Amino acid sequence: MLSSGSTGLTRGPTGSEASPTRFTLAGTTTTTGMTPGGGIVSIDQHTEIDEGKLMQFVFRAVGEVGAALNAALVVMGDRLGLYQAMAEVGPLTPDELAGRTGTAERYVREWLNAQAAGDFVSYEPETGRYFLLPEQAMALTDPGSPAYLPGIFQVALGSVLDSPRITEAARSGAGFGWHEHGADVHEGTDRFFRPGYNANLIAQWLPALDGVVGKLERGGLVADVGCGHGSSTILMAQAFPDSTFVGTDYHDGSVRTARQRAIDAGVEGRVRFETAAASAYEGGGYDLVTMFDCLHDMGDPLGAARHVRGSLKADGTWMIVEPYAGDRVEDNLNPVGRVYYGFSTLLCTPASLSQEVGLALGAQAGEARIRDVVTAAGFSRFRRAAETPFNLVFEARP
Ligand SMILES: C[S@@+](CC[C@H](N)C(=O)[O-])C[C@H]1O[C@@H](n2cnc3c(N)ncnc32)[C@H](O)[C@@H]1O
Repeated sequence: MLSSGSTGLTRGPTGSEASPTRFTLAGTTTTTGMTPGGGIVSIDQHTEIDEGKLMQFVFRAVGEVGAALNAALVVMGDRLGLYQAMAEVGPLTPDELAGRTGTAERYVREWLNAQAAGDFVSYEPETGRYFLLPEQAMALTDPGSPAYLPGIFQVALGSVLDSPRITEAARSGAGFGWHEHGADVHEGTDRFFRPGYNANLIAQWLPALDGVVGKLERGGLVADVGCGHGSSTILMAQAFPDSTFVGTDYHDGSVRTARQRAIDAGVEGRVRFETAAASAYEGGGYDLVTMFDCLHDMGDPLGAARHVRGSLKADGTWMIVEPYAGDRVEDNLNPVGRVYYGFSTLLCTPASLSQEVGLALGAQAGEARIRDVVTAAGFSRFRRAAETPFNLVFEARP
């Protein structure tokens, strides 16, 4: 832990006669001096600190704090209908926005300034009005857009809210089940993934699988395992009216939500949702088994894979959708990998550790580890069928 010896991370004056600066590293206070150029300070005999790099890191961290707070602020704007009103009306003063949304002007003004400072809304100093650019309006208010963002912020906020429990679990190595999380994790996950499924599942991913679309058009039997709130199941049911779908998930609360969603979508006659672990769902003779962003969450993915193999027809297909990842850590040290490793630490890894076996593949497992699981379960063919910047889509055949 590095901190200045005075209040906050302040520096002594720069220049040739710069004052010594005191830093504490891992609890050891050492008096240091600044180079005439104001660059390098030494904190002990072995470590040199480049002040420029230090301040660069500190200011980057300030941006990170703003981003962390923005998870709550985006969810606030989404829940209070602030973005929606701005998208509908155009430029508004805080007073006008508060009036339209039935909210308190003082909160709305502060929220708008935080949003404007973070480039989530734009500000017109001449009129004192705030507005959304068309791209911001689409990403923040249109659930039909592939770029729709509120869901990922909701699941991020839900993960942070539950993080004290994960911190405790990390001491002992205990798990923390998906079902133990608050509603923001469950609902946010569904809202986060759904736009990607809307954009890709019917148009790109299913057609990338060998012969599957034809079977579903003629009338096939599909199991969507680890289905959560059932968005993927319902989407497939709407696209293939002659096929029958069973969605399963071990989390009873998600299954209840999925059942209601099927009724709301008018597909309940051909879509059934059941509470079941992936290694124990009922039925057989499936043409297609799907798993969307859930294999790595399971404690025993190999047990689940064996069960899938036993439940498929001889010429059936297992489609596995996983977060985009390379096989090596260094492949994933980028913004997308960062988000997935973050969710993996707070959600996926604890979820897997909470179950039997606790293999904990992690959300950045990558193709090679998924292939190992699939082939160990006895599947003879495995290939990457499709990908997006956020997902890998695999096809496994018995
Ligand atoms: C990240 S969520 C994805 C949900 C859904 N497939 C989607 O794409 O929105 C992971 C899901 O896997 C489910 N899950 C975790 N372990 C499971 C298991 N062993 N058997 C069945 N479902 C499981 C969780 O309950 C959760 O709904």
